[in-house]
Amino acid sequence: MKDIKTERKRYYIKTFGCQMNEFDSERICYFLESAGFKRAISYSSADILIINTCAVREKAENRLYGHIGNFKAVKLQKPEVLICIGGCAAQSLKEKILNSFPCVDIVFGTQNIEKLPDLISQRLKFKKSICITDEDFDSHEKLYLFKRDQKFKAFLPVMVGCNNFCSYCIVPYVRGRERSVNPQQIIQEVKNLVRGGVAEVTLLGQNVNSYGKDFYPTRNSKNYDFAALLNDVSAIKGLKRIRFMTSHPKDLNKDIVSAIKQNSNVMKHIHLPVQAGSNKVLKLMNRKYTKEIYAEKYFYIKEQIPDCSITTDIIVGFPGEEEKDFNETLDLVKSLRFHRAFTFIYSERSGTSAAKLIDAVSKEEKKLWFRKLVELQNKISYEENLKVVGKKIEVLVEGYSKKGLGQLAGRLENNTIVNFEGFKKSANLIGRFVNVEIKDAEVFYLTGRLKE
Ligand code: SAH
Ligand code: SF4
Ligand code: F3S
Repeated sequence: MKDIKTERKRYYIKTFGCQMNEFDSERICYFLESAGFKRAISYSSADILIINTCAVREKAENRLYGHIGNFKAVKLQKPEVLICIGGCAAQSLKEKILNSFPCVDIVFGTQNIEKLPDLISQRLKFKKSICITDEDFDSHEKLYLFKRDQKFKAFLPVMVGCNNFCSYCIVPYVRGRERSVNPQQIIQEVKNLVRGGVAEVTLLGQNVNSYGKDFYPTRNSKNYDFAALLNDVSAIKGLKRIRFMTSHPKDLNKDIVSAIKQNSNVMKHIHLPVQAGSNKVLKLMNRKYTKEIYAEKYFYIKEQIPDCSITTDIIVGFPGEEEKDFNETLDLVKSLRFHRAFTFIYSERSGTSAAKLIDAVSKEEKKLWFRKLVELQNKISYEENLKVVGKKIEVLVEGYSKKGLGQLAGRLENNTIVNFEGFKKSANLIGRFVNVEIKDAEVFYLTGRLKE
């Protein structure tokens, strides 16, 4: 048997899903590179092909199957290549992946990332496919061992897992219960990141607003919570921008709003998924707030921080949702005027409690509702974006724009993307703060001009 470290050196990783999964991919890279593997630029030049999957909607799972197909074609040419499937779909589907796709060599769950190099060695030694998806969601000891993708911005989980069990959602089943990271550890890590040149940190959690609840058996106002964490992180010298996501409306409180308001390096943007505008549907979804409570919190934020942008997620066609419920969602969207909404057609996830509900509305009808909602929200997003046209605003330059032509793309404090001409300085500006004069608005982004 030849040494794995000399024979199979290059890995390629494809990531689906949320920022938490992006972060997990950075952990996969860390553990593989510590074991001597190197990253390949393309999957055709790699020996280890990894997919870090998402299971939140059926579409995400279908993308997994498409990618396995591509990787299988590589394996037909190079049979020694290993295909490894990790992440949330691996955690949820387990052996089913091996049964449906014999070309897959390793299935590893969300809690088994650090074992991947060993699993690869085992697979090579025993020539038998492996499925390991620990259900023990207790530890996050090695959470902060990761290989950062970008130099100037970083995503950092402050908690993992979720306790909310929204009735449609698979996340609590594939990520376990909420575990908050110790505040000292977070602060130390953010300091390290800043020392390493990071200007923007996004604090991650499925529901950051419940950060710290698991530290205390009883709740009282003196407990260390997300507001306290925001205040402490924002005091770190040299940290220019702090973002956080996601906020659950039921746990968003005045202390958090005040921490955002009072700390100039906490960005004025809250992603606050509403999911539906009908109380009947919210109840079926187990969201634990009414549309009135949501609206009250929404307007409190706007009153305290008028330039704070609020974005949301909305699910259309939840089981039991009728046209009058959907119309209530449209009304809510009209009155709140979200800066942006991520809209999804309900996707049944096996094992969740909503999967047991009767879903009477046809796919066609749901698609019709969906289009109506998107049309309304696009109009609002465009109008909200128009409000900053003509202003000169500070932007963190993130890279080249998808629009091509050497244009740069960056983000405003409120998270809106702006594309602008960087002229000859383009490459040097990436990762830097510049002032951009906003020239025009589109639905999903702005266009501008670099200002000295
Ligand atoms: N923890 C975050 C993110 C969860 S997943 C939160 O609570 O907001 C991101 C979004 O996907 C959710 O907000 C929801 O709108 C959507 N989503 C989750 N499960 C879904 C399902 N089964 N069908 C359709 N959309 C879903
Ligand atoms: Fe899913 Fe709800 Fe948890 Fe978000 S809060 S991850 S939607 S169960
Ligand atoms: Fe994220 Fe998808 Fe898992 S949204 S937590 S990668 S199911």
